[in-house]
Order: sequence, then C-alpha cells, then structure tokens
Amino acid sequence: MFDSKAFQGKRILITAGASGLGWAMAETFLQCGGQVLVCDVDDEALKKVADRSERLHVTHADVSDEASVAKLFDTVKETLGGLDVLVNNAGIAGPTGLVETLNKADWDRTLAVNITGQFLCARLAIPMLKESRGVIINLSSAAGHLGFAGRSAYSASKWGVVGFTKTLAIELGPHGVRANAVLPGAVEGPRIRAVIAAKAQTLGKPVEEVASAYEKQASLGRMVSAQDVANMVVFAASDAAAMVSGQALVVDGHTQMLI
Ligand SMILES: NC(=O)c1ccc[n+]([C@@H]2O[C@H](COP(=O)([O-])OP(=O)(O)OC[C@H]3O[C@@H](n4cnc5c(N)ncnc54)[C@H](O)[C@@H]3O)[C@@H](O)[C@H]2O)c1
Repeated sequence: MFDSKAFQGKRILITAGASGLGWAMAETFLQCGGQVLVCDVDDEALKKVADRSERLHVTHADVSDEASVAKLFDTVKETLGGLDVLVNNAGIAGPTGLVETLNKADWDRTLAVNITGQFLCARLAIPMLKESRGVIINLSSAAGHLGFAGRSAYSASKWGVVGFTKTLAIELGPHGVRANAVLPGAVEGPRIRAVIAAKAQTLGKPVEEVASAYEKQASLGRMVSAQDVANMVVFAASDAAAMVSGQALVVDGHTQMLI
C-alpha cells in the first residue's frame, strides 16, 4: 500500500503484536520501513517472530497489569527513544453466553484487557506522542458499533474503546496528536473459529451452520482478512490520514448485524 520508506524513522508500539492481527500490522509497518516494538503475554509467540527483522524489537507485557505496562514503557524509551505510533491492539474475546449466565470474573477480565489496557498504555504514551505529534490507533470491533448477542462483555468493552478514542481525539487534537479506532468485522483465522465453536454450542446449532452465517453476514460476502485490518491501521497512522481523527473506522465488508 505504501512504499518501503513511508514509515522510515517512525517508532511504533503494537500491543499483543506477536500473533494474529497485531503481527499482520507489525509486518506491514516493517515493510514500510518503521521501527517496531511488539509486546505480548505469549513468550513462545514472541520468540517465533523475534528474528524477523533488525527493526523489530519484542518484549513481554500484559496490558491489563499496571506494573507490567510501566515496565513496557521503560522498554519503549530504551529501545525506541520515543514514540510516533501507539497501536492499542490487545483484546480478548471474553465469555460467550446470555447476560444472566455470565460471571463477574469473566466480565471484569474482558474489560481489564480490552479497555483498561488501552487506558494504561495511552496514559504513558501521551507525553511521548505530544513530543512527536504522533498517533494512537485503538482496536475496537464491529461489536463496538453493533450489539452482539451472547458477547455482551466484549461488545461493551469495544463500545467503550470508541468513547475513549473520541475523547482522546478531543484532548490531544490541540497537541497535533490524532486518535482513531479501527473496527474490524469477523477476521478469518483461529480466533474466529474458536468464537464460532463457542457460539454454536451456546445456540445448540452445528458449527458449519454458524460458520456459514458468519461468512454471509458482510454485504461483501466474505470474512475480513488480517491484511485488510493492517492496511487500515497503517493508513490511519500515516500522513495520508493527517486530517482523520476521532473516527470509528469500520473494516467489516458492510455488516449490519452480528450473529
Ligand atoms: N480476530 C477478529 O475476528 C477480530 C474482530 C474484531 C476485532 N478484533 C480485535 O483485534 C485485536 C486483535 O485481535 P486478534 O484476533 O489478533 O487477537 P488474538 O486472540 O489472536 O490475540 C493476539 C495476541 O494477543 C495476545 N494477548 C492476549 N492478552 C494479552 C494481554 N493482556 N496483554 C498483551 N497481549 C495479550 C495473545 O498472546 C496473542 O498473541 C483485539 O483487540 C480484538 O478484539 C479481532
């Protein structure tokens, strides 16, 4: 999408970047010449990607843990010497079930990772981003602008991300810092297969039936790819999006209802 110099000299932190969408974003920023630090809770996954580029740095961090995030930002300062782009990507699927069946621990854990984690990272990134007139990208979901039966904790957390992002955009705009949320629809891959299996069990339907309904729920008739999402994140972080802030950027092939 962009050439190999588009992010030359730019310092990018991607949370939960060792696999899934975060890794697709990391690869794309690296192809565009950026310096990328990814954190993750999965040390095996970090080890697997660590050697992929001289411009890639990896570190362990749990975004829901305040002390771990403080350590992460010490690492940001040591390895990158500042920050141009924060991608708050970490997010968990949370529990599947009707509201009256959910337990508080699962609800709390979902919010702790998906929204409090973004707050903890943004709080420490902001001083550096004000210096660089940088960018924040927060991962929400199509469930951050639609209701999602059986996934209330996830949906609530992802609507929260949009409110957080719009507020960041207002607070940081005068400092030249932009903040946008990216809202992917169902992304093909292992995570969505697990979500579909859990949903099929909750609904008492065959997995194939639920999987087929997932493919058809977008007007464009297919699930989103990790690269579709990475492209939007890189665009939103680039100078091409210089006047785009406070937006909920939906990448879902036009999905009007989540099943
Ligand atoms: N995959 C989808 O269908 C989809 C759709 C819409 C939105 N999203 C959002 O996109 C983001 C990335 O999704 P994904 O599918 O790549 O996720 P994933 O489940 O594949 O996980 C990606 C990485 O997150 C790490 N991780 C989990 N908890 C963490 C924590 N507390 N701190 C640091 N790292 C942690 C995991 O170890 C893993 O390497 C999430 O915010 C998710 O909610 C995903």
